[in-house]
Amino acid sequence: MKKIESGTKFSSIDEIIKPKFAGKKVKLRGWVHRQRSGKKIAFIVLRDGTDTLQCTAKKSELSEEKYEEFCNIKYESSIIVFGTLQKDDRAPNGYELHVEDFELIHLADTFPITKDQSDAFLLDIRHLWIRSQKLTQTSRVKAKLMEGARNFFKKEGYLEVWPPIITGSSCEGGSTLFQLDYFGKPAFLSQSAQLYLETLIFAHKKVFALTPSFRAEKSRTTRHLAEYWHLEAEAAFLDLNGIMDFEDGLVTAMIHKVARDEKKSLIALGRNPKDLLAIKAPFERIKYDEAVDIINSKGVKIEWGEDFGTGHERALTKDLKSPIHVTHFPREIKAFYMKTIDGKTAECNDLLAPEGFGEIIGSSQREEDIKIITENLLRDGSDIADYEWYLDLRRFGSVQHSGFGLGIERVMRWICNLEHIRDTIAYPRVMNRNTP
Ligand code: 4AD
Repeated sequence: MKKIESGTKFSSIDEIIKPKFAGKKVKLRGWVHRQRSGKKIAFIVLRDGTDTLQCTAKKSELSEEKYEEFCNIKYESSIIVFGTLQKDDRAPNGYELHVEDFELIHLADTFPITKDQSDAFLLDIRHLWIRSQKLTQTSRVKAKLMEGARNFFKKEGYLEVWPPIITGSSCEGGSTLFQLDYFGKPAFLSQSAQLYLETLIFAHKKVFALTPSFRAEKSRTTRHLAEYWHLEAEAAFLDLNGIMDFEDGLVTAMIHKVARDEKKSLIALGRNPKDLLAIKAPFERIKYDEAVDIINSKGVKIEWGEDFGTGHERALTKDLKSPIHVTHFPREIKAFYMKTIDGKTAECNDLLAPEGFGEIIGSSQREEDIKIITENLLRDGSDIADYEWYLDLRRFGSVQHSGFGLGIERVMRWICNLEHIRDTIAYPRVMNRNTP
């Protein structure tokens, strides 16, 4: 009866669900994703980290005892199965494994996750829920998104760098800072690597980094996390238009990479890859003033000088199919480091995702005038001494430069068509949750 030879090589599901393997003997190992059994025939759906495969066992072809054991395998047990791969159009991915033998690695306890459980319960049990199809698909999409980004940065000659996460000064204002006790003195968790990336362009000209960023967001929304993955870049000798051109190329490269390489996951998540492939650079650019008029014309009230909230961004983007840049926000509501040419607006842009998803990138040309930066810092109530190191960049070889920050989970929420940002990350950190 023992057909599983110890020397036989294990296959992975993604490499064998191809016509040339039909009729071949294979050995797989993984976890029982689903199980269903009858008097004469039983099925498990095996999940092995690369894909899933239906495995069918017939009572007539296993011993009575073995068939009984197969029928009693619980969800999420780990198992080795051996058999012949067959083409079967009724099976979910067109193939099934005809089981000739199997070996339980570990018989799971009764799995606590069943159908229709509350979001709160699924968050409590996230360490098990990450095995779900939805979360494995989003993780795969995220990995491809970053692969697309890294390829693009490499092609454009940007160097990947690793800025610190513990910092002594704020980049995006005090209200969302997480403070920690750093050997008896206050320090902060980074909100953005920008100020450090600005220092690094003087050594490398064009740099990028992927780091966790932290925001003590006190409101509960569907698009804010307290900890998110921030993809940031900074380039010397580049103005606002130049950085927007770069963002268009980067975002297109990222989403096209996913659309080409993760079609199955996207479709399962409710996003047609063809719609992503139809998105082409350059994206439309409008000024803040025009955006304010459009938002008001859609019946959502906003005054000149107000920053955009979720409702404003939704009104502006819900009928769009491609991202849009909004440029030149009033400088009073923007960060101290943004350049002004007219004294009234900032040389900045937000890139908003279509279909109501809203901001995915915050970006600007940086102010070079040390006097204006100092005034802005004082306006914000900052202590200039904390920023002396940053001001040195305007004292030693200052050049025109620009940069941006892209929220990976914001892009994920858009391209995976997800209502809530928490499903774009394995372990979401929000105001009321930091476990598991
Ligand atoms: O617009 P923000 O605050 O810009 C900066 O941090 C700049 N210093 C970046 C730079 O120029 N290097 O944040 C940038 C992006 C936003 O557009 C958004 O996509 C994302 O970071 N983001 C968040 N994502 C998830 N949860 C939050 N709480 C986020 N806050 C910002």
